[in-house]
Amino acid sequence: MKICVLPGDGIGPEIMAEAVRVLEALNLGFEMETALLGGCAVDATGNPYPEATQKLAQEADAVLLGAVGGPQWDTLPREQRPERGLLGIRKQLNLFANLRPAILYPELANASTLKPEVVAGLDILIVRELTGDIYFGQPRGIEEREIDGQKQRFGFNTMHYSESEIRRILRVAFEAARKRNKKLCSVDKMNVLETTQLWRDIANELAPEYPDVELSHMLVDNAAMQLVRNPKQFDVMVTGNMFGDILSDEASMLTGSIGMLPSASLDANNKGLYEPSHGSAPDIAGKGVANPLATILSAAMMLRYTFNMEEAAVKVENAVKKVLAQGYRTGDIYEPGTTKVGTRQMGDAVLAAL
Ligand code: NAD
Ligand code: IPM
Ligand code: MN
Repeated sequence: MKICVLPGDGIGPEIMAEAVRVLEALNLGFEMETALLGGCAVDATGNPYPEATQKLAQEADAVLLGAVGGPQWDTLPREQRPERGLLGIRKQLNLFANLRPAILYPELANASTLKPEVVAGLDILIVRELTGDIYFGQPRGIEEREIDGQKQRFGFNTMHYSESEIRRILRVAFEAARKRNKKLCSVDKMNVLETTQLWRDIANELAPEYPDVELSHMLVDNAAMQLVRNPKQFDVMVTGNMFGDILSDEASMLTGSIGMLPSASLDANNKGLYEPSHGSAPDIAGKGVANPLATILSAAMMLRYTFNMEEAAVKVENAVKKVLAQGYRTGDIYEPGTTKVGTRQMGDAVLAAL
């Protein structure tokens, strides 16, 4: 049972240290090996996803990732940017199914910027396709072209999905809905984009195979609005890479903070990469104040999906519930009357609860 640990950049190493301590405390016999991904890898090797990391990620059973990126790498050529390392590992390991559960722990009802009654009891799962769409479509680029009789720069990206790519992610979502409240909302923009018309057609074709799941469709702009108007109407939402990126950040605020939203990125055999949904938070990096709970909850997802250790996963999730009930809060979820703690102290509290 080998875990490839990729702390990454910014707050990555700070939050990862806490998740690793939690895994060690469980004493389940994991072998953990750390490697470079992102900006730290660019600085050390010139490559955001170096060969040594590729080898380790491919041979490990699971990958645990902090976050990558930061302003100091934003002016590099695109192939050398930290984000390209993350996209590269997702694509290489064929991690097409990104599960982002947005659950509101009752203690955090007041931490959300939405009214407590709108978010109380919230439990939705966003299933985001992760290896296709406009993120990977060719052709892409910025070029000089002659347009309207004038030489000018021209930027272009290509959105595309094949039938098989759409089918496999929709099946993951139907199966997930089947194990939950049996409601699946497929989010698209079929009124404008052909790719997503195909998406909707395929969802409708698959629906008869899942008669126990109630399938609905929603246009992405409406979905963005409905998520803040009445998020509890949703059970499972499924959508493409780009819409899923945006909607999952939006959904994170329903849970109190983006520092609470874990994720699992899975291939067809549940080999997975587990990471918080947030980024490297350059504005608070190095200060020891970042919320490590999304990363700790991502480690719990790893126990569940890759290692089939449901009991250990629940143990970690219960420890997180307990520290919240005890009133421990990092700055992002702090409210008067609770105890403000830093990253390390939050990790200490989770360990004590375990
Ligand atoms: P971000 O998610 O890093 O930060 C957005 C805001 O949320 C910031 O104010 C930050 O302080 C706060 N925040 C995020 N995580 C937090 C945590 N655990 N605890 C407390 N507060 C937290 O998004 P951004 O600022 O748009 O991006 C910063 C960098 O991260 C960029 O380089 C971006 O490309 C990268 N990024 C990486 C990933 C990833 O590695 N999976 C995801 C998103 C963004
Ligand atoms: C995420 C991030 C990444 C994405 C970036 C950093 C490439 O925003 O994991 O949500 O857009 O997928
Ligand atoms: Mn994102």
